[in-house]
Amino acid sequence: MEIRQITAAERPETMFPLQAYAFTPSPWSAEESEAYRRRMRFFGTAVNLIAEEDGVALAGVASLRMRQNVRGLVHDMAGVASVASHPSARRRGLVRKLLTRLLRQVKDEGCAVSALYPFRPSFYAKFGFVGIPRRRTTTFAPEGLSELLRRDLPGSVERLPMSEGFSAYEGLAQTLLDSRHGFSVFDDVRAAEYREDPVWLAVARSGDEVVGALRYRIDGHGGTLSGSDLLTTGPLGRALLLQFLGRHVDQVARITLTVGTDDVPELWGTDLSAVTEGKVDYPRDNAPMARVLDVPALTGSRVGTGAVTVEVVDDELIGGVWSLGADDGQLTVTAGGTPSATLTVAGFSGLVYGVLDPIEVLTRGLGDVTPDAVTPLSELFPRRMPYLFADF
Ligand SMILES: CC(C)(COP(=O)(O)OP(=O)(O)OC[C@H]1O[C@@H](n2cnc3c(N)ncnc32)[C@H](O)[C@@H]1OP(=O)(O)O)[C@@H](O)C(=O)NCCC(=O)NCCS
Repeated sequence: MEIRQITAAERPETMFPLQAYAFTPSPWSAEESEAYRRRMRFFGTAVNLIAEEDGVALAGVASLRMRQNVRGLVHDMAGVASVASHPSARRRGLVRKLLTRLLRQVKDEGCAVSALYPFRPSFYAKFGFVGIPRRRTTTFAPEGLSELLRRDLPGSVERLPMSEGFSAYEGLAQTLLDSRHGFSVFDDVRAAEYREDPVWLAVARSGDEVVGALRYRIDGHGGTLSGSDLLTTGPLGRALLLQFLGRHVDQVARITLTVGTDDVPELWGTDLSAVTEGKVDYPRDNAPMARVLDVPALTGSRVGTGAVTVEVVDDELIGGVWSLGADDGQLTVTAGGTPSATLTVAGFSGLVYGVLDPIEVLTRGLGDVTPDAVTPLSELFPRRMPYLFADF
């Protein structure tokens, strides 16, 4: 078996049959194969690895070049995707070898963190990934927003085809990348595919500043307005977009939107009845996972207070002893010291991403935290839910 890095142009002959068999209804048609080929111009910067035997690709993995904000610091992020092996080659360790090599390679190329959407979290837990929250869906009737229609808000909303609003949308995504914990974006090559999306874009502006944007479609008169992520820089952007949605009161029966775990739709209006849910059901409705690939690269992250030394175990990439501290709210990292906690990569990543408390690290079997380390770890890494924006 040989592992080989391939270009996007080689993916249709090698990775497509593995992915199409694994993820789509099959057998697939010539049109589907051609559609995949056409999309390859958006994968020119991805790192693609395949495992071959006698010139036949038996398994493949890829990493999309992305960026992510983790506790205030924007890192290069490896978005792991396209993971599939041929059914007759499964459980032979091929994907383990590919993923191990991929994570090493992307770390060497500068990625400090990685994220993915797992078909089954226990599989990726073997590679150090820890669960982070799935975005929520909220559904409500536009009548619930009627009080907002009477407000005179300092801003406006413009409705555009995505192709015309793309640069405003991407500009807002970059602003949120700099300010929102967990937020992630594709590089320009991969992001360009979304320019031609057949969706509406509502862009909220206050003065010249874009303060909100929502991609959406409408499935028919009296039907559903389906929005994706309600992206806003704050309450004004949200109010402007909700006011715009409220104007669809005689047009659609319901509105669905994607929101973060810290959004509380029942507080958006006095009489707003809403169902907000985060359905997780593997393999399809999957919550993402993330991990740290480089500890010194976290230096400068916005953290709490205090200091603690931890040993990260069983990991070729970040294993070792790390003394962590805070200098005016910014993380300091030095190698070495006497550890008071032993953490798996998933346990360490859970603390860094703000999804696990030190006691949960212990109860989940992701580390051994001495009583002396519980308070310093929770003060250094206060709980803070990440919002992973991109789907991949
Ligand atoms: C999931 C899949 C990629 C695994 O590929 P594979 O080549 O069989 O994986 P490996 O043999 O390298 O297994 C790696 C490890 O995961 C374990 N593993 C394999 N399948 C697993 C599963 N379904 N659930 C949990 N663990 C699993 C293996 O036992 C092995 O553990 P070990 O190294 O500790 O012994 C393959 O089964 C597949 O293509 N499935 C359909 C597509 C899919 O779901 N892809 C993932 C998208 S996120």
